[in-house]
Amino acid sequence: MSEKSEDAAVTNPAQSEGAVLSKDAAPGETLLKVTGLQKHFPIRKGLLQRQVGAVRAVDGIDFEVRSGETLGVVGESGCGKSTMGRLITRLLEPTAGTVEFEGKDITHLGVGGMRPLRRDVQMIFQDPYSSLNPRHTIGTIISAPFRLQGVEPEGGVKREVQRLLSVVGLNPEHYNRYPHEFSGGQRQRIGIARALALKPKLVVADEPVSALDVSIQAQVVNLMDDLQQELGLTYVIIAHDLSVVRHVSDRIAVMYLGKIVELADRESLYKAPMHPYTKALMSAVPIPDPRRRSAKSERILLKGDVPSPISPPSGCRFHTRCWKATQICTTVEPQLVELKPGQRVACHHPENFEDQAPQDTVLLTAAKEAAELVADEVLAESATTSAAVAAEVAEVAASPTGPAAEETPDAAASDEPETDRDSK
Ligand SMILES: Nc1ncnc2c1ncn2[C@@H]1O[C@H](COP(=O)(O)OP(=O)(O)OP(=O)(O)O)[C@@H](O)[C@H]1O
Ligand code: SF4
Ligand SMILES: [Mg+2]
Repeated sequence: MSEKSEDAAVTNPAQSEGAVLSKDAAPGETLLKVTGLQKHFPIRKGLLQRQVGAVRAVDGIDFEVRSGETLGVVGESGCGKSTMGRLITRLLEPTAGTVEFEGKDITHLGVGGMRPLRRDVQMIFQDPYSSLNPRHTIGTIISAPFRLQGVEPEGGVKREVQRLLSVVGLNPEHYNRYPHEFSGGQRQRIGIARALALKPKLVVADEPVSALDVSIQAQVVNLMDDLQQELGLTYVIIAHDLSVVRHVSDRIAVMYLGKIVELADRESLYKAPMHPYTKALMSAVPIPDPRRRSAKSERILLKGDVPSPISPPSGCRFHTRCWKATQICTTVEPQLVELKPGQRVACHHPENFEDQAPQDTVLLTAAKEAAELVADEVLAESATTSAAVAAEVAEVAASPTGPAAEETPDAAASDEPETDRDSK
C-alpha cells in the first residue's frame, strides 16, 4: 500500500476504553536519572583480538527524564543518540555510569531483574521496515510482548491487540495481515502499538519518523502526541535535527560527539540558545511560514564533518568547528553547568549570556528566525532585542575581520529542507 493511500485506511486514534495507565511517579517527578553514562565500543585487531582503541559513542552524560514529559534528543549522525537510547532501555550494557529508573539503580541488572523493567520501558525503532518480522502477522507481532512477559490481558490477547490497533488508528480487522501489506507510516503505527502493549511508563523513540515521507511524519508525531495525552506516557524522542522534536518536546538535549552540550526547556532553547552548536542546528531548521521566508536569515553552516569518536578533539569537542573557539577551548573541557534557570550548557563562551562580547550576538537573528514555535510575545521581545543588538554590532558584522561563521546568501534565502544537510 502506498504512503498516499494511508489516509484512507487510517482511522482516527480511538479514545480507547481502559487505556489509562497507572503511574507511580507523579507528573514532573524524576522517572529516569542518568549519571556519568558512558559506552565505549572496543576496537580489536589481530589474531589475538587485542583491544587497540575504543569508539567513545557516549562519553559521560548526565540528565534526567521527568514523568509525563517529552525529552527531545538531537544531534548529528554518529553523535551517540541511538547508543544513549539503547543504554537507557538497557539494550546495551554501559561501560561506566549509572541509570536509575524510579529511584532504583538498574545499571547492571541481569535478565531476571530486568524482566519487570521491560514492561515499563519500551523502544520504538527508526526503521519500520526492518523492525517488523515479515513472516509474522501484525497480530503475532503486537501480541509478542504478552507472550514474552507471560501476561494475559483482560478479554484475551486478540481483543487487546485489536484494541491497540484502533488506538494507533489502524483497522482492527487487519489483525491477520502481514507487514508488507502496510505503508511505512502504518508500519510505524504497528511499532507504536507493539511498544504500548504492556502499558509502559517510558517510551524511547529512536528517530521514529525519519524513515517516513514528510507528509506522513506529522501524522505519526501527532499520533504519539495524542497517545501521550491519553495514556500519560513519558517520551524520549531522538532525532537528528530540531524540526521533528521542536513541536513535541518539553525539554531538549543537544548532543555532540558523545556529550550533551546543552539541555534546556524548549522555550529557553529557542528564545536564546547558549551553545554555539545549538545555534547552528537551529539556524538549519526550515521556516514553514511563507510570509517569513523572504525575511533575511543567517544560516550557520558548520565547517567540516563531525570528528571521529575514536579520538575526539581535546578540550571542547566542538572546537574544531566552532567560530568562537579560543585557546582555552582547545585544552579545557567545559562542563555542563546551569547558566540560567533550567538551561545547562557546556561552553566557555556561551551565547546570549551576560559576559559575551558584542560580536557573539551577530548571528542572533538566525536563532530568532528558527523560533516560530515560540509564543508571539516571546518572539516580539526577542525581535526587539535582536534589532537593538543588530544595530549595535552592525559595524562589526560589516568589517572583513568580523565573525568567522560561514554564511552563503543562497542558503540564507532558501528554506528547502535539503539545505539542512549543509549543516550536518
Ligand atoms: N555496536 C557498535 N560497535 C562499534 N561502534 C558502534 C556500535 N554502535 C555504534 N557505534 C559507533 O558509535 C557512534 C555513535 O553511534 P550511534 O548509532 O549511537 O549514533 P547516532 O547519533 O544514533 O547516529 P545516527 O543519527 O546516524 O543514527 C558511531 O561512531 C557508531 O559508529
Ligand atoms: S567551549 Fe569554545 S569551542 Fe566549545 S562551543 Fe564554546 S566557544 Fe566553541
Ligand atoms: Mg541513531
